[in-house]
Amino acid sequence: MSRDAADPRGNWNYPTAVRFGAGRVAELPEACKALGMKRPLLVTDPGLAKLPMIGEAVEINRKAGLPTAVFSDIRPNPVEANVTAGVAAYRAGGHDGVVAFGGGSALDAGKAIALMVGQKRPLFDFEDRGDNAARVDPAGMAPVVGVPTTSGTGSEVGRSSVITDERDHLKKIIFHPRMQPAIVIADPALTLGLPANITAWTGMDALSHNLEAFCTVFYHPLGDGIALEGMRLVKDWLPVAVKDGKNIAARGHMMAASAMGATAFQKGLGAMHALSHPCSALFDTHHGLTNAVVMPYVLVFNREAIEEKMIALARLLGLAPGFQAVLDWVLELRRTVGIPHTLAEIGVAAKDIERMAPMAALDLCAGGNPVPVGVAEMTTLYRRAVSGDLGA
Ligand SMILES: [Fe+2]
Repeated sequence: MSRDAADPRGNWNYPTAVRFGAGRVAELPEACKALGMKRPLLVTDPGLAKLPMIGEAVEINRKAGLPTAVFSDIRPNPVEANVTAGVAAYRAGGHDGVVAFGGGSALDAGKAIALMVGQKRPLFDFEDRGDNAARVDPAGMAPVVGVPTTSGTGSEVGRSSVITDERDHLKKIIFHPRMQPAIVIADPALTLGLPANITAWTGMDALSHNLEAFCTVFYHPLGDGIALEGMRLVKDWLPVAVKDGKNIAARGHMMAASAMGATAFQKGLGAMHALSHPCSALFDTHHGLTNAVVMPYVLVFNREAIEEKMIALARLLGLAPGFQAVLDWVLELRRTVGIPHTLAEIGVAAKDIERMAPMAALDLCAGGNPVPVGVAEMTTLYRRAVSGDLGA
């Protein structure tokens, strides 16, 4: 662990401008001004809106001459109506930029609101399929400062937002390269108060991003390098962050691993996310928790296609070389941080599989899985994950 700083901090311009380090949320006014904002709209979720950190952020902006309003009408899995209401608040308040401040829901909603403030087409016209991003009028997008308060989604450095379409209950990915916030303030001190379960669930989401990105078939050695180091940070630091939430080094390294996961998954994701999305869309299960539950089932299912990669990963993680050691590590990590073994334990029943399998097969992430996964394969995976049979 000696190569990991006790108080990680720095100024990074890859993948975007990242001001990284404890206490750096104090630089929020400067970041807003650098993007030309005079009246930012701070987008967060209703839970966070009640916490002092939001009041403090609004106050430091106000003192710096930046009157800042808060919009927090956002569901845990944000829907189009949340984005529409945010756009209305943005226009009504005469705002000129967005501070997306929070976990995945707030970051995704904030980025989608900033995208939509000056578009003529409806939100789902910009779903990440084919050439849809070309439909966006970039001049109609508001600038965004991203401030993560969890370490998992990495959405602060991502170029997309996941929004649920209430018409078909599908989670859809809204994409435009400029949705990536132009400035990120990654302040691990903002995560010190996260409870152990949320730390674990979001941290496992970061692991799933790095792991799925590493396993996906697309050629992207930059993504592979980032994903490997991201997984090493999760291995060394997630158990520490869950056990001792006040450990700023652990919080910092997990925030880095989270940003690395989202950077790596420009390469692609896979069946973990494809299986997870329908569970959250239908039953509001926590995204990271759901990924963590399905993780070992997908690894076993993909075994033949990822065997060689698992040797490289095992070597980096200091495990015995090979697939089995990585699988054992994942199972042990899940136990250590309190992840249940089956989907049944988080409210998904066998009777739901028939409805979910076609949704998972349609999910955009399915295409990145190293083994082709259609409805039949998704059905098998769901059956195993509901019943607890790894299929090994
Ligand atoms: Fe995720």
